[in-house]
Amino acid sequence: MKIYFAPLEGVTTYIFRNAFAEIYGHVDKYFAPFISPSENCPLTPRERKDIAPENNRGIHLVPQILTCRSEHFIDAAKALSSMGYGEINLNLGCPSGTVCAKGKGAGFLQDKDALQSFLDDIYSYAESCGMKISVKTRLGYREPEEFYSLIEIFNLFPISELIMHPRIRTDFYKGDIRKEYFAYAQDHCKCPLVYNGNIFSVQDYADLSSECGLGGDSSISGRVGEPAKADRGEPAMPERVGDSAMSGRVGEPAKADRGEPAMPERVGGSAQNREFDPIMLGRGLMSDPELAGKIKNAVHDAATDALAVAIGKHDDETRNEARNTDADGTSAFAAETDFLKLRRFHDTLYHEYQKVMAPDINVLHKMRELWTYWQVLLEGKEREIKRLMKAKKYEDYEAIVYPLLQAAEESK
Ligand SMILES: Cc1cc2nc3c(=O)[nH]c(=O)nc-3n(C[C@H](O)[C@H](O)[C@H](O)COP(=O)(O)O)c2cc1C
Repeated sequence: MKIYFAPLEGVTTYIFRNAFAEIYGHVDKYFAPFISPSENCPLTPRERKDIAPENNRGIHLVPQILTCRSEHFIDAAKALSSMGYGEINLNLGCPSGTVCAKGKGAGFLQDKDALQSFLDDIYSYAESCGMKISVKTRLGYREPEEFYSLIEIFNLFPISELIMHPRIRTDFYKGDIRKEYFAYAQDHCKCPLVYNGNIFSVQDYADLSSECGLGGDSSISGRVGEPAKADRGEPAMPERVGDSAMSGRVGEPAKADRGEPAMPERVGGSAQNREFDPIMLGRGLMSDPELAGKIKNAVHDAATDALAVAIGKHDDETRNEARNTDADGTSAFAAETDFLKLRRFHDTLYHEYQKVMAPDINVLHKMRELWTYWQVLLEGKEREIKRLMKAKKYEDYEAIVYPLLQAAEESK
C-alpha cells in the first residue's frame, strides 16, 4: 500500500521531510505545503528553497499550488517543471478566512463555472507538456451536497489523483468525517482517489478501510470477518463511471449523476476506486511518527491473517494492540514508542533548525509546534510539556526535554 504525507504549512518543511525520511520513512510521497504564486512572482525565494531538489534528495516530493488564476498556476508550474517536477498538486481545500476571501483553496469551490474554466486552462497546459496534476479537495464550501456537482466537474479532467478530505470548509479540521461522501466518490469518480482525514491509529485505518474499502488480499478491510460491501447484494450500477480513469478528457460531458439524492447512496461502482489505498496522513503521522510503518505492517499482517483476528474482534489482546490501547482502555502509545528514535528525530530537527534560524526563541517556536503533536506520546507528563513549551532559551528547553525523553525510554 501507499502512504502519503499531507502538507502541513509551517510544519512539514524540507528540514522536517529530510529528518522524517531518514529516521522513520514508510512514506511514498510527501506533499509540500502550498506555494501561492502572484503576478510576476511564481515562487518566492523561500518557497523555492523549500522545494529545491537539492534540499529534498531521495524524497518523492509533490509541490502544491494555491491560486484561482490559471495564468499564475501555469507560470508556477513552468518554474516547477524546470526544477524537474512532473507532478503538481492543486489546493482546493484550504479553509483559512484570508485564503477563501480571495477565492482560493476551499473558497474556489464556491464558483463552479470559474473552477471549470480554470481546470480547462491548467489541464490543457498539462497535456501540452506531459505534466501530471493532482487535486486536493474538500466536499464543498457550505454544504457537502456541493460535492455532487464538483465531482461532475472533476470527471471532465484527467486528474492524476483526487485527494479527498471529506469535510466542508466550515468544518475546518474538526468534527466527524463525512465518510459517506468518500464512499460516493469511490463509486462515481473517474480518477484514482486518495483518502485523507482523521487517521490517528491503525484502528482508525482499519475501521475506515472496512467501511470504505473493497477488501482483498492486500487490504485490511478484506479481513474484518464480514463480506465486502460489494458482495452484499447491492445493486450493480448499470453504467460504471469509474472504469476508464483517463478517458474523461477536457470537454467530455460527465456520464453520471443526474438527479442526485440528498444523501449519497452506495451502489456497486469502480473496483479501482474501492481500494482504501493510497491514503494521506497528516496530524496522525505528526503525533505518532511510527504510524505509517505500523499501518503498513498491519496491512502486511492482515495478509497472513494476524489482523483478521484483531479487526474481527475475536482476540482482545491483538485488537487492543491494533487500537493503540491497553486492556484498561488507556493509550498504549508510550509503551510502543521508540523514544530513542524520537530523540534522534527531535535532535535532528532541533539542530537543523538552529543552522537556519535565530535567535533561540524562533527555533523554540518551531519545536513548540512539534510538541503540540508529540505530547500524546507522553501521557502523564503534561506539566513538563507545558514548561518546555514556555522555554525561551535553549538551555532551559534542554534541561526539560532531555530528562523527559530519557525517563520515557527508561519507563517502558
Ligand atoms: C497546521 C496545518 C497546516 C496545513 N497546511 C496545508 C497546506 O499547506 N496544504 C494543504 O493542502 N493542506 C494543509 N493542511 C491540511 C492537511 O494537509 C490535511 O488535509 C488535514 O490536516 C486533514 O488530514 P489529517 O486529519 O490526516 O491531519 C494543513 C493542516 C494543518 C493542521
